[in-house]
Amino acid sequence: MSSAAVEAARRVVSGLREACATPATRLADVAAALAGEMEAGLAVEGGSRVKMIVSYVDSLPDGGEEGSFYALDLGGTNFRVLRVRLAGKEARVAERVAREVPIPPRLMSGGDATSERLFGFVASALAEFVADEGHDADGERQRELGFTFSFPVRQTSIASGTLIRWTKAFSVDDAVGEDVVAALQTAMSKHNLHMRMSALINDTVGTLAAGSYYDDDVVAAVILGTGTNAAYVESADAIAKLEPSQLPKSSNIMVINTEWGGFDSPCLPTTEYDRALDKESLNPGEQTYEKLISGLYLGEIVRRVLLKISSRCSLLGDVGGGTELRTRFVLTTPDVSSMHHDETPDLTVVAKTLADRLNIRGTSLETRRMVVEICDIVATRSARLAAAGIVGILRKIGRGGPGDERRSVVAVDGGLFEHYAKFRRRMESTLEEMLGEEAAARVVVKLASDGSGLGAALVAAAHSQS
Ligand code: GLC
Repeated sequence: MSSAAVEAARRVVSGLREACATPATRLADVAAALAGEMEAGLAVEGGSRVKMIVSYVDSLPDGGEEGSFYALDLGGTNFRVLRVRLAGKEARVAERVAREVPIPPRLMSGGDATSERLFGFVASALAEFVADEGHDADGERQRELGFTFSFPVRQTSIASGTLIRWTKAFSVDDAVGEDVVAALQTAMSKHNLHMRMSALINDTVGTLAAGSYYDDDVVAAVILGTGTNAAYVESADAIAKLEPSQLPKSSNIMVINTEWGGFDSPCLPTTEYDRALDKESLNPGEQTYEKLISGLYLGEIVRRVLLKISSRCSLLGDVGGGTELRTRFVLTTPDVSSMHHDETPDLTVVAKTLADRLNIRGTSLETRRMVVEICDIVATRSARLAAAGIVGILRKIGRGGPGDERRSVVAVDGGLFEHYAKFRRRMESTLEEMLGEEAAARVVVKLASDGSGLGAALVAAAHSQS
C-alpha cells in the first residue's frame, strides 16, 4: 500500500480524533449545560429542547404489588408483549412470559406507515399473545395493561397522552398530535380485547420503576439503546411549570422524563459526519445529543468516516467498485462493537465484518487497525458524553457531590450498555473521573435488563382499579 494512501487515511482519522475529543473540561461543560437546560425545561412548558415531561408517576413501586399485568413495549427495533405475575414482597415476579416481535420497517416510516397500520400491528401481536396463552390467566378479572411507548409524549394523565413527535427510526406522520392510548384502544377493539389501559409510560420511566422495585436507592434511569434518554425523581416543588392537575396526589415527588436526547449545546463535540448524518436523518436538527450517543447512529457514523477515507485513497477498496460504503445504515452498532472487541492477532473479525457488511476485501492489517481505532474514537465519545449526562442529572438533584454520603443508584437499560462492554467500561470510568473516586463509589450504575417492560406492568399495578 502506498505511503501516500496511508498518510491520507491517517489525516482523516486524526481529524476525527480531534473533533471528537472530550477532555475533562468539556465534559464538565456538558454536564453543567444539561443541568441548566433541565432547569429551563422545568420552569415553563417549551422552555428548553430538553422537554422535561411530567410523567404523572408520583410514587414508585415498593415490592408489595400483586396480580397479573400485561405490558406492551414499543420504541426500539423490536416490539415486546409481556405478562408478569407479581406476587408481593417475598416472591416478587413469580412469572414472566414475554414475546418479542420485529417491527416491519414499512410500518415505521415511509408512505405505507400510518398510525392505523402501526397500532393495528401492535394490537394483533397482543391479541395473538393473549390467545396463545390458551386460558384466561386471570379468570373473570379484567386484564390490565401498561403501555411503554418510548417517544416524547405530552402526558395528560397517567394513562393518556399525545405524541409530540417521532424520534429514532420512526416517522408516522398522521400519529403526531394523536392520543396514543386512544389510537391503540381503537385498534384493540377490532380484536375484542377486553383490557384496560392503566398506564402510558416512557421506557425511562419504566426502567426507573423497575429499578426502584428492587432497590430503594434508585434516583434516575437511563436508556442506552437504539435511542438514549433519562428519567429521574424530582421534588414537586422544583417543577415550576406543574399545573394544578399535575400535582402529585399522595407524595411530593414526580418522575420526570427528561427527553435528554433533544439536548443541544455548542459544547457538544460534533463532526462533519454528524452534521451530514443529521441532515439526512428522519428528524434533521433534532435529537443532537442522541445522535452522538445512541445505538441507532454509532454504526452509521463509522460508515461515514470509512466512506470519507475511501474517497481519499484506495485502502478500503474502490467506492465505485462494488463496496457497500454508500449504503446508509449497513453498518450497525453491534458490528462496531464486535470489531472494537476483536482480539484475534490478525483482526479477523474486522476483516469478516468489512467483507460481509461492506463488501470490502483484502485489507491490510494496518488498515484493519485503523478501522478499530475509528470504532474506538466514536464509541469513546459516546460513552463519555453519556457519563456527562448522568453527572448533569446528579448535579441537578444534588447527588454524588463531595460529602454526599447517600447511595445513589442509576438504573440503566438498553443494548448499547448491556452488550457493548468497552462502551460500558468507558462510561463507568468517565463517571469516576468526573465525580472523583470517593463520590463515584457511592454512585451505582446498575443494569435493569428489560426494565422498561416490567416497569410498565408495575406502574399499571400501582394504578390498577381492581
Ligand atoms: C428517544 C425517545 C425517548 C426514548 C429514547 C430511548 O430518545 O424520544 O422517548 O426514551 O429514545 O428509547
